Amino acid sequence: MTASHIAAIDQGTTSSRCILFDADGRIVAVEQQEHSQVFPQPGWVEHDAAEIWTRVRSVVRGALERAGLTAADVRAVGITNQRETTVLWDRHTGVPVHHAIVWQDTRTEALCRELGRNVGQDRFRRETGLPLASYFAGPKIRWLLDHVEGLRERAEAGDVLFGTMDSWLIWNLTGGVDGGRHVTDVTNASRTLLMNLHTLQWDERIAESIGVPLAMLPEIRSSAEVYGEAVGDLAGVPVAAALGDQQAALFGQTCFAAGEAKSTYGTGTFLLLNTGEKIVHSYHGLLTTVGFRIGEQPPVYALEGSIAVTGSLVQWLRDQLGIISTAAEVETLAGTVEDNGGAYVVPAFSGLFAPYWRSDARGVITGLTRYVTKGHLARAVLEATAWQTREVVDAMEKDSGVTLTALKVDGGMTSNNLLMQNIADVLDVPVERPYVAETTALGAAYAAGLAVGFWDSQETLRANWHRAAEWTPKMPADTREREHRNWLKAVERTMGWIE
Ligand code: G3P
Repeated sequence: MTASHIAAIDQGTTSSRCILFDADGRIVAVEQQEHSQVFPQPGWVEHDAAEIWTRVRSVVRGALERAGLTAADVRAVGITNQRETTVLWDRHTGVPVHHAIVWQDTRTEALCRELGRNVGQDRFRRETGLPLASYFAGPKIRWLLDHVEGLRERAEAGDVLFGTMDSWLIWNLTGGVDGGRHVTDVTNASRTLLMNLHTLQWDERIAESIGVPLAMLPEIRSSAEVYGEAVGDLAGVPVAAALGDQQAALFGQTCFAAGEAKSTYGTGTFLLLNTGEKIVHSYHGLLTTVGFRIGEQPPVYALEGSIAVTGSLVQWLRDQLGIISTAAEVETLAGTVEDNGGAYVVPAFSGLFAPYWRSDARGVITGLTRYVTKGHLARAVLEATAWQTREVVDAMEKDSGVTLTALKVDGGMTSNNLLMQNIADVLDVPVERPYVAETTALGAAYAAGLAVGFWDSQETLRANWHRAAEWTPKMPADTREREHRNWLKAVERTMGWIE
């Protein structure tokens, strides 16, 4: 019997999942496990990469068991992952040398300011498409080399390897200390501040300026090609794709052509617009990034509006404030009131990302009066996601000249009807969700399937996209404008908090 499934491993900020897909792109089995979030200091966020690797192995096993399948039934495996999160490990033992520094972590803020001294935040933008911000991996590597004793010498000697989560997983999946492949894909590499967007290779001059030895960097490969064969539960299965989770969602939403865009609502929210083979530089606070590269085909670029905190604001309401006991409850609670009661929440927990890039910002709740209830706060929490989306859409329209006529959405928060309606209202365009909302995993599966000939073309995949739900704008224009002004006033209050 020929292998009739594709496996996707989706290693996200809060959990790892393995999803098995059939030839029609339908989900056959899902297994998911959360991992620990470590907050050693305000603004710092870490993960234990060894724990993540254990969880990934376990979800792969669980998904296969659930579906009643074995490695022999799986034609290829694709990886998709939280981006920028930085893992450094010992090449000889396979043990991480420190907790991974997560993309949300702001500890490199001063270092980024120092690197931009006299030149500014855009020092490496022409080459990398990115501003100097604590979000990206390069400065996180430098921080680890500066703070873990003896690490720089070991890294220069080639004994310590760097990877984003894709690299870490591919290295382990393909054998680890016994010949694991040290590679990454162009989409993940484009989030390090170390890759040149034009050559798709590490930029030696920038690596030297940031202070990262080239010896520790993985080889940059396309997003869809066979990197090696897996060992363990997927023994013999080609590891055939890797994409950062947001680029994978772009691919899974079949936004293959220039002008197509999607927005993914997870821990954070990331709106990507496919700009085709053209590198479009942003003048309005967006990132230029690689969208995907399928084998030897030319790379496809994207403009990205990154929002650090959306779903994680709901988690904060649940875990830190205890106002709700499950994330889904936020919708019920917000539904107990008609509006936000005058309150606005701006969740600048990791500073502000797009379109501001202000690491010195911190979160605020404004407009409080004795009238405000937890229902109003829940509503303001959801509205924060909608207004942040509006801000990146406005920037995208200015940068690209493309006016959005509808927004394709996906991710966990899209099951929240009140939020989806609110997004349609503040954008004043319809919001559409596809039938398979797991577009991140689907994108990785699609790329892996294309790499091994399981699917013959991108056109075949397009036929799998079906709209499952649509929300159309209902908010009166004057309400939208008033609320927009209030939101912008609240945003102003977040800036300059950290000196
Ligand atoms: O850039 C960070 C992003 O990749 C994280 O995505 O879905 O884990 O919030 P998510």
